[in-house]
Amino acid sequence: MKITHTPENGEFHLSNGMISYILRIYENGYAGSLYFGKALSPVRPYGHLGPRDFRGFSHGTGDFTRFEYPSAGNGDFRLPAITVVHADGSSVIDPVYRDHRIYSGKKPIPGLPATYVESDSEAETLEIDLVDELSGVIITLFYTIFADYPVIARHVRVTNGGANTSGCARVSGAGETLTCAMSASVDLPDQNWDLIALTGAWAREFQAERLPLRRGVQGVASVRGVSGSQQNPFIALARTNADERTGEAIGFSLAYSGNFRAECEADSFGMTRVRMGINPAGFSWKLGAGESFDTPEAILCWSETGLGGLSDAYHALYRTRLARGHWRDRDRPVLINNWEGTYFDFDEERLLSIARSAQALGVELFVLDDGWFGKRNDDTSSLGDWFVNRAKLPGGIDGLARKVESLGMKFGLWIEPEMISRESELFSAHPDWAVGVPGRPRTEARHQYVLDYSRAEIVDHIFAAITDVLKSAPISYVKWDMNRNITEPYSMSLPADRQGEFFHRYMLGVYSLFDRLTSAFPDILFESCSSGGARFDPGMLFYAPQAWLSDDSDAVERLRIQWGASLCYPPSSMGAHVSASPNHQVGRVTPIATRAAVAFFGAFGYELDPARLPQSELDSVKNQISFYKAHRTLFRTGRFIRLVSPYDGTDASWMVVSADRSRAIVAFYRVLGKPFPVAVRVKLAGLEADAAYRITVWPAPVAESASAQAADGARTGESALTVRGGDELMYSGLRVLDSAFFEPQTGDFWARLFVLERITK
Ligand code: DGJ
Repeated sequence: MKITHTPENGEFHLSNGMISYILRIYENGYAGSLYFGKALSPVRPYGHLGPRDFRGFSHGTGDFTRFEYPSAGNGDFRLPAITVVHADGSSVIDPVYRDHRIYSGKKPIPGLPATYVESDSEAETLEIDLVDELSGVIITLFYTIFADYPVIARHVRVTNGGANTSGCARVSGAGETLTCAMSASVDLPDQNWDLIALTGAWAREFQAERLPLRRGVQGVASVRGVSGSQQNPFIALARTNADERTGEAIGFSLAYSGNFRAECEADSFGMTRVRMGINPAGFSWKLGAGESFDTPEAILCWSETGLGGLSDAYHALYRTRLARGHWRDRDRPVLINNWEGTYFDFDEERLLSIARSAQALGVELFVLDDGWFGKRNDDTSSLGDWFVNRAKLPGGIDGLARKVESLGMKFGLWIEPEMISRESELFSAHPDWAVGVPGRPRTEARHQYVLDYSRAEIVDHIFAAITDVLKSAPISYVKWDMNRNITEPYSMSLPADRQGEFFHRYMLGVYSLFDRLTSAFPDILFESCSSGGARFDPGMLFYAPQAWLSDDSDAVERLRIQWGASLCYPPSSMGAHVSASPNHQVGRVTPIATRAAVAFFGAFGYELDPARLPQSELDSVKNQISFYKAHRTLFRTGRFIRLVSPYDGTDASWMVVSADRSRAIVAFYRVLGKPFPVAVRVKLAGLEADAAYRITVWPAPVAESASAQAADGARTGESALTVRGGDELMYSGLRVLDSAFFEPQTGDFWARLFVLERITK
């Protein structure tokens, strides 16, 4: 991995043998893009990849120029990466190269989540300073290339340079106002792409959508104050013939949890500009002399092995160099959460009875969800009153947690620290702490308001209150929820000309609280949540290594949700629970083994009352838990490979394979049964071609079909325990409905896992 600078032609070449990212400083000082793709020789010049000379009727810089960080008002009429309003009201900047630095390693971004290195040898960073001479605005572009990933991490620092050092007349005084500061902008030389985005709504997050790029601007964005379930801060461009395993694809992922925008402009001259960062809608940030603003980090990934290649890189990077702390590299406990089991209707005895039966089944962590504090018996009150409701829990959190621990389990607790209910002691004492515009009614959502986290004293108060709770009892896990979007955005602490800073300051407050709590309680496993997956993004993964993916726990719905989320996010980050049937969100009745076979590919747990399960399902749960415990390191760390898309039909399949390719688990899901005979072969991937693998099936075939299989096996020489070559499994496929394994009439909502163990080299 190396960043090469060639002063003679102004080129910077970032390469790690997998990718090259090449940019250049032109003779006029502008920073232009030359290339992002498969690694090119670092010794050759590439200036000829830049713009052609002919500029037609374009102005100034020309529509043909590929910029690294385009600005507005100087002849490039496409989407800008930055706009700055000067004190005189003008908003033209013309940034030119001033300086650069190259160094080993990667620096943190103050107050913001970001990928990191554990040793300087893991990455190299390039910083380039561009300066608008007339205003003194300095734009520092940061690029990090990692040794082991086909990834470039970018962010930008904008500084009001204060005193004019250039000798030019200044058009502004001390005041500069940023109204757009994207984390990255990339100009690609053609338009032959499909745009992939993850869209949805509450309980149907992460729906993967793929559409051909068309002329004009298209993308995803949020103005909700959270990244949102409607759209995720991830997009990919894939060549129109690219699939899961082949073809070129580029991913753009933003480590940010608030208002964002990711969009592409396919221009009139055959190029594509992609920009990603804080949503400029409603955003502004005042920069006094000498002050700086740091954007969040955008992580750009290039793949020549299709979408699978993007996911491989994002999963590995985010699991090991974005997530942090004690739990990053540890297997997560199997948990049971009482939410769908009881909702608000519980007392200590009911909770303990769930804990007791769960413990007997092998569950390791009991999580008490919403409803334990203040006077909260439904969702109309008490957010902000972080003291226990003794009517429900006479022994307090401590009493309950100790009883749970005495069963041999760990104890976890739900909080929603960013919220305040109108019906709460906190609101009575501090009505001005809720976000809102003085004199205007506040919009209630789920009967609650949002605390103004742009105010340090409010964050301090909640830090103290939550710290008291976490210190009061043996708490091993925290689920941090956030259940409404922000309306009437306004902070009483900000002057009129700084209200545009509110949303970002809110996020900085959330991140600071997360940072303080995770630092104060480093052994606690934090799981983030926002009405399911409404704030499931790389920003949150920096603080909490797992997040509740969706309030929809139906196994069939989850196939699409987990498939979509896995484009960018590793299964280890996806909270996935087995819940009751009929399912509470869609009413579907599915076998409990199928529910588990989907949830295994996530941070696994249960969300039901075991007392309501028949004995046969309890036996199944016990079996599921021991199966999961035997394989959970593989589920957490294995390479996740998508095989058959649930978006294309009524079958789905995916697998995990260990780094050394010695072990794998393949899942096949048949959502709707089909008549016999069917010969479905799923071509596996990631195995060792010349190794043999022993295959066993989970759940084990039932007795009667097992004997039928024995007879069949005698005939075909196959059994539930069989051996196949890695080459056959990848090139011919695994016969997932083979009568050697089980009855071919599957019924609906049927799932099987195939456990592969390498037996020869
Ligand atoms: C929304 C979450 O997604 C649920 O899992 C649950 O914690 C509820 N909030 C509790 O109010």
